[in-house]
Order: sequence, then C-alpha cells, then structure tokens
Amino acid sequence: MKLAVLSDIHSNYEAFKSCIQYLERRKVNAYIFLGDYVGELPCPEKTLKLIDELRKHRRCFMLRGNKEDYIIKGLGGYNTDWDGYPSVVGMLRYAYENVSAESVEFFKTLPIEDTIKIEGYPAIRICHGSTDNNKGYIEKETPAFFDNIKEKYILCGHTHKPKVTYIAGKVIWNPGSVGLSGSGEMIARCMILHGGRESWRPEYVEVPYDIDAEIKSMRAEGLYRIAPYWSVVTEDLLKGGTIDHSLVLNKAMSLCKNETGHCEWPKIPERFMKKAVNELLYME
Ligand SMILES: [Fe+2]
Repeated sequence: MKLAVLSDIHSNYEAFKSCIQYLERRKVNAYIFLGDYVGELPCPEKTLKLIDELRKHRRCFMLRGNKEDYIIKGLGGYNTDWDGYPSVVGMLRYAYENVSAESVEFFKTLPIEDTIKIEGYPAIRICHGSTDNNKGYIEKETPAFFDNIKEKYILCGHTHKPKVTYIAGKVIWNPGSVGLSGSGEMIARCMILHGGRESWRPEYVEVPYDIDAEIKSMRAEGLYRIAPYWSVVTEDLLKGGTIDHSLVLNKAMSLCKNETGHCEWPKIPERFMKKAVNELLYME
C-alpha cells in the first residue's frame, strides 16, 4: 500500500503536474491532499481541474486549508479601501476572482481534519495546520493536546517545511510544500507513505519541475502588477529562496509601525513592502 501525500500546492500548476506524473509512475494507491490548493501562483482553476481529473480514477482524501477558507469567507472580494495595497492584498483578490463558484462550493464540503481508515493498516489522522484550526500548528501543540487523538500517525502541512515530529507517543509527518517549498532548492516536495501491517514508513520525495514555465505564467497573468512585491517573494521562493511571505509581511509591518507609529493589516504602504523585500531578499 502506497499513499501519496501532497500539501500546499498554492496554485503551482507546473509543480503539481510534475508531482502527479511522478507519483503515477510510482504506482501509488491513493492520494491525500492536506489543503491550500490555491494561493500565490496563477490560474488556480488549472490546478483544481487536475485534481478533478485525478479524482475520477484515484481515491483522493482531501482537506480544506486556510487559503480555501479565505476564498469561502470572501476575503479578496471587492473593497476599495484596499486599493492602495496591492503587494499585501493583490493575491487574495486574484485568487478570489479566479476561483469558480463551483470550486468554492466544493471547498465548503471539505473538512479541516479527517481520519483515514484503510483496512489492514493503522489509521492516520490528517489536518492542514492543526486538528482544531487549519491555521494552527499541530507540531507545536503541548503533549496534553494529543490526549483526544487516538491515532499514532498524524499528517499535517501549512508550514511548508518537511519534518517529522514526535510528541506524546505520536509521529507527525509534514511533507513540505508542493508549490512553494522555500527550502533552498528548486523542487516540489511531497511524500509517499508505505503501509505495513503495524506501521507506516515515510519516503520524502523531491520532484524537479519546469520553474521557468511557472514564472512565465506569473508574468502572463500580470501577477507582478497585481501583487508587485508579493510576487517578487514568490519568484524568489520558486528559485530556491528561503524567505517566505510571512517574514516579508512581518518585516514590512514593523517598518511601518516604527516610522508611522501604527500599522494595521492590510494597510501597509507599498514603500514598506519594497523596503522589506530589499532588506530580506537582497540584504541591501
Ligand atoms: Fe496553509
């Protein structure tokens, strides 16, 4: 029994397509998706269609990530108050406008956590961030948190960092991110779980993909105009950078607060996003 585990695709179609091609060659029996299908990269529907196709002939377990929640909640919907802050809100708006109503309805049907039970194999608990919050971090929970979790094996995503964590007798695997690995290498990350009678064995997988095609698609969709500095960070991550969007955003917010005395998301003037990018990515 081989289970493919994929998380945090963030609309990176090229990375996702290459992962699926690789995993099909490896003859996996089923797919587990831990959420955040959409996000920083162009053409989210292309990615969602690929999942639709896969679901026609493969068993797929799917969760809802925080990125899907943003769209369900209408974050990124029309709001003129946000017009001056494209680097902060541009991708939220783009994702909101480019995901179909049908896909939003589908997102609403997905749980934020689930338990995978396959006869003859140990059950696996799955979540995006944590089991009670898809923006949480189960890898950082206290041992007492696990009192209510029966399963020994847990899968989570959200941090984009491939990792194994041991807490309270549990084994927590994070496969890293398909679309924005941010781990210093130009690859997509996913995982294959090999099932035995009593246990699962993880295989962390790195898949090369056509990064130039993905960046070309970012340009064709106008992402550098829609979300200028956010997209600079995205491109840097694709090219093997390790500075993620939250680091840049936090830096911009503290620069804004230091200079103006206050800072309220998402109203962070572009000049602070520019300065944060320059300081963190280019060390200027
Ligand atoms: Fe996430």
